[in-house]
Amino acid sequence: MNFLSDVFSINSAVVAGELVIGGCKSTSLAKEFGTPLFVIDEGDFKSRINGWKNALDKNFGSSAGQVYYASKSFLSVEVAKWISDAGIGIDVCTGGELAVALAAKFPADRIEVHGNNKSEAEIAKAISVGVAKIVIDSMQEIERVNRLAKASGKVQKVLLRITPGVEAHTHEAISTAHEDVKFGFSIASGSAWKAISEVEAAANLSLEGLHCHIGSQIFENEGFILATSRLIELAAKFRDQFKRELSELDVGGGYGIAYVDGEITFDPDEAMSALADLVKSQCAKHSINVPMISIEPGRAISGPTTTTLYEVGTTKDVVLDGGKTRRYIAVDGGMSDNVRPALYGAEYSAILANRTSTIAPVDSRLVGKHCESGDIIIREIGLPADIAPGDLIAIPATGAYGRSMASNYNHMLKPAVIAVANGSARVILRREIEADLLALDVVEAPRTIN
Ligand code: LLP
Repeated sequence: MNFLSDVFSINSAVVAGELVIGGCKSTSLAKEFGTPLFVIDEGDFKSRINGWKNALDKNFGSSAGQVYYASKSFLSVEVAKWISDAGIGIDVCTGGELAVALAAKFPADRIEVHGNNKSEAEIAKAISVGVAKIVIDSMQEIERVNRLAKASGKVQKVLLRITPGVEAHTHEAISTAHEDVKFGFSIASGSAWKAISEVEAAANLSLEGLHCHIGSQIFENEGFILATSRLIELAAKFRDQFKRELSELDVGGGYGIAYVDGEITFDPDEAMSALADLVKSQCAKHSINVPMISIEPGRAISGPTTTTLYEVGTTKDVVLDGGKTRRYIAVDGGMSDNVRPALYGAEYSAILANRTSTIAPVDSRLVGKHCESGDIIIREIGLPADIAPGDLIAIPATGAYGRSMASNYNHMLKPAVIAVANGSARVILRREIEADLLALDVVEAPRTIN
């Protein structure tokens, strides 16, 4: 196994001792754009989009639905254009994500709208721009979408988010299809069937199909398979009752990627071929036509494409109980640009990016610059003993839920995101500046509020 090829983006290599991404040297990138820096390998991003699209098309043929890129994993106007140009769809789950997609002139008929608590304004906007589908998540929303569609004289295509009662093997906070969750309508409790019946009766809603999303960073196929077979069972019950067939099943995202050596990124073709076998056999069993199958990968597209470059600021040796020493290596970012270790105990890997060291590794902890002890990027890692201030550290696989979950904690400035390809680099999200932080501070005269 080659660590660099399995965890770093496709166009990454160590050349003359230095990490080079998309033909650009780490040292030159850091000098030109500063650190911390999110470096997206544009070619890799585009090839992963196509990898999922081709796998869906190849394995489902005429019943291939849409690949909706889950934009929550990472979104910018430029990235929305890559998604749009590749001819796939986009999944947005807030008015903000929708606004970015629209700013990229994303065709509305390839936008799918999610969210467990969409506001009336968000629903009205989605209907008015003509999104492909709204995925309904609650009983109240059935009434809201129906009413707002009626007000704009439209019949809105919808999917219903179903909770199939599957325990996905991942962190509890990102597991979404067991019974005790805020998402969707449960099959087991009967609420899914009640929602189906209500949508069918709503004059301004057109029920196109069912949706489920079992969780994120999942490595086993079983969860996807079980969830999908439960959706198909429900679709068959629908056909029996309503004497028509649903046209689409959207089985969500969640495909896991490698963060550390030894983990394996889900192969799109393997995932889609297993899904296609299951869908075909289950549809045959229930005597229904194979519906359009849609998927929503986010992390599996954006995650592996991006590397964070940090600069080392300080190192410190701390003597632990038992006399062992741990070296704390502090970099110029941390939990504000990557909250995943603090939030989910997520693991990452790292390399020294600006040079090769032949010095033996020491037990190290890679930390950020925030004012709390939990600001850890990598809890335990062996890094060369001669790492010193000014060195660059590269963390691979930070493209999903890194920049998109970034915060201004401690009034840190969110890093720039740059796209690299064939030896050139360009900013696609600029680094924040202090004026951005201050732009929200307002001093206004008190207003009487009754
Ligand atoms: N579809 C729906 C309805 C979702 O809620 C999500 C993710 C996806 C698709 C895409 O899942 P993906 O393919 O990216 O795993 N912040 C967490 C992940 C939260 C995922 C939320 N929903 C993390 O950093 O691990």
